[in-house]
Amino acid sequence: MKVIDSISTLRQTVNAWRRNGESVGFVPTMGNLHDGHLKLVKKAKSHNDNVVVSIFVNPMQFGANEDLDAYPRTIEEDKAKLISVGADAVFLPSVAEMYPAGLDAQTFVEVPGISDSHCGASRPGHFRGVATVVTKLFNMVQPDDAFFGEKDFQQLQVIRALARDLSMAVTIHGVPTEREASGLAMSSRNGYLSEEEKATASAIYEEMQRIKAGIEGGNINFSELEGAMVANLEAKGFKKDYCQVVNASTFKAATANDKELVLLVAMFMGKTRLIDNLQITR
Ligand code: PAJ
Repeated sequence: MKVIDSISTLRQTVNAWRRNGESVGFVPTMGNLHDGHLKLVKKAKSHNDNVVVSIFVNPMQFGANEDLDAYPRTIEEDKAKLISVGADAVFLPSVAEMYPAGLDAQTFVEVPGISDSHCGASRPGHFRGVATVVTKLFNMVQPDDAFFGEKDFQQLQVIRALARDLSMAVTIHGVPTEREASGLAMSSRNGYLSEEEKATASAIYEEMQRIKAGIEGGNINFSELEGAMVANLEAKGFKKDYCQVVNASTFKAATANDKELVLLVAMFMGKTRLIDNLQITR
């Protein structure tokens, strides 16, 4: 596996593959890799001749009071994991390589509409940071295919919209959420939880399943279902950020006419913010 930290070396590597007629898959990450990330890499390997994984903890997508400095950095372990799943190159740019003019002078990409609600409302500027860094990474790697987790469902829709709106020559693939045996969605932020908190956190998945079963059983009193879920989780010590059944394309509150729904959840366990979602078809 090639370890690359400059844009120019990355371009040379990708150009050499292209001259051989080989395709390029891309998996952007912030590192501290777990089996969810590795699932994306395996999926990319099954689609493309070569796979580039980027690891970059992107300061532009963290708010002033968020966990940028505390975010886990485990580069050596990450490299070993990437070798084990056959990644061809890992791209590890510095902040200076990514943002040579500094963050404040940086041209940005903003996807209107879909970026405003839920995680966008709770974390102002977050999706601007994500959309900008992913656009830059796409320009650096120029992949045929790029792979994102459904775990971050709203992020996936933001990326789909930006690739479409900016006429990018990349196909975006969504990959289902990888979970612990308990149902807890894998996340680098789970590392902030104690073992006891982790066990409690699996209640999020149980409650999501209960809402899904309720809707599939014909209950369309969405606010009642959401209220019960929040009450059960608050009784276990969670604090609500949001918990809502929405139309899967518009992210507006679900109505009786909607067929494709998604339950979007963000909960705090102490200072740790956990997100999850479940798609539901009526
Ligand atoms: P990060 O949180 O490291 O996630 C990288 C990719 O892994 C994202 O596409 C995310 O949805 C996916 N992922 C995370 N947990 C997953 C799980 N349990 N199952 C399946 N996929 C999972 O998301 C980011 O980084 C950043 O915002 C990034 C896109 C890299 C831009 O900085």
